[in-house]
Amino acid sequence: MKQSMHIEHHAEILNAIIESSFDGLWICNAEGEVLKINKASEKINSISAEQVVGKNVKDLMEQGLFDRSVTLEVMKKKKRVSILQNLNNGKKLLVTGNPIIVDSKLTYIVTNDRDITELIELKEELEESREISRKYRQKLQEVLHKENEDTENFVFCSKEMKKVYEMIQKVSEVGVTVFLQGESGVGKSRIARLIHEYSERRKGPFIHVNCGAIPETLLESELFGYVKGAFTDANEDGKPGMFELADGGTLFLDEITEMPLDLQVKLLHFLDSEKIKRVGDTLTRKIDVRIIVASNRNIQGLVEKKKFREDLFFRVNIVPIEIPPLRNRKEDVPLLLSYFLGRYNARYGKALTLDTEVTDLLCQYSFPGNIRELSNLIERLVVMAHESAICREDIPGQLVESVVMSPQKIDKNFLFQFSLKEAMEKVERQLIENARKICKTQVELANLLGISQPTVARKIRKHNL
Ligand SMILES: Nc1ncnc2c1ncn2[C@@H]1O[C@H](COP(=O)(O)OP(=O)(O)OP(=O)(O)O)[C@@H](O)[C@H]1O
Ligand SMILES: [Mg+2]
Repeated sequence: MKQSMHIEHHAEILNAIIESSFDGLWICNAEGEVLKINKASEKINSISAEQVVGKNVKDLMEQGLFDRSVTLEVMKKKKRVSILQNLNNGKKLLVTGNPIIVDSKLTYIVTNDRDITELIELKEELEESREISRKYRQKLQEVLHKENEDTENFVFCSKEMKKVYEMIQKVSEVGVTVFLQGESGVGKSRIARLIHEYSERRKGPFIHVNCGAIPETLLESELFGYVKGAFTDANEDGKPGMFELADGGTLFLDEITEMPLDLQVKLLHFLDSEKIKRVGDTLTRKIDVRIIVASNRNIQGLVEKKKFREDLFFRVNIVPIEIPPLRNRKEDVPLLLSYFLGRYNARYGKALTLDTEVTDLLCQYSFPGNIRELSNLIERLVVMAHESAICREDIPGQLVESVVMSPQKIDKNFLFQFSLKEAMEKVERQLIENARKICKTQVELANLLGISQPTVARKIRKHNL
């Protein structure tokens, strides 16, 4: 009596366990006859226990309740089997059949139904939304890129700059150290950034250090960082330097010639070993940084004077890129004029145009400050202009004078080919010719050249102009 109560109690607990399962459970005998299914299974399969208990799974499959029966598979294989099952109510189940072996004989098969319809739907939804967000990200990048192009384009058409651009593209593909050389304002900093943006490191940091702008005493710790207690004012926890901050990206060392000789040694060491040591540290750190250096000074001259280390010069000069000054690539001037005019018109909400006379004048100007000077000039003209077109009167007098008096107007060799009298005649003719381009009347010409109007008339006649 006591034992039967005990067994009954066990059966009750077992039943409670089976019913509490969130997964559907089927218990079949070794012949495939359904002995029991739980509530969860009724719900998942949209059936009631009476419909299936006492029936064989083979018949149920033939009736079309499910497309595959894991119980039959377990009966065949006598081991655990998992399958994906499609129900005729549209649900998808992950079904696992477990053989229960008693005395080496297959006695029961317990099958676990897990409804993964929602999971699959969620997965599909997730994939769909991932795809959508990928598309959005791509679009956003395109827009950002376009915006970037609108605001920060790299403009050129001269063959000199085409060569430079080809080199930029080539060096971007590899991690080689690049040396950018050229006068102030030719675009070295812009190009350094372009190389970074075109390279595989574009997602990494781009760190620009102007070696000439940081006091020599600070430069070492700025570049290489320092450890706790390295010097009196040192920050408690130490500080990473620009090399570490640029890890995975590009470090642009501008005005490299201003780097003191002892730091040049450290830079050379980094270029050879890809390792740095913070100030006061014993530990070396491996760092993955691409170095671009730039200078607007005659570096070879400094090497000769021992102000720049020769070994470092050779090391950074593996790929030198010389950016020509604007006066040596005049074809770029009209393009740059219209590019900056468009940019500043947009920035200041104006719709100004350049008089052809102004364009002509500026095309003859030598722009000693290169693109920066051109850009600043156009910005100033756009800001100051009150008419719809920028005309000659708006151009600073000094600029006009320098065009008219430009020594480039005089052929380089001619001073040695002519007598003084002949040369003076030629200069006079050239001056009058140039002045006539910007003066409308003979009185204006006379004022500009500092001579009287009758003299102007006489000279024009003399030179047959
Ligand atoms: N090809 C170009 N097209 C459009 N803008 C340019 C081009 N080259 C340079 N610029 C712009 O001209 C300005 C000056 O260029 P940048 O600062 O790169 O010159 P730099 O050679 O680094 O001068 P510095 O030696 O004084 O540092 C910047 O505003 C830059 O964006
Ligand atoms: Mg620069």
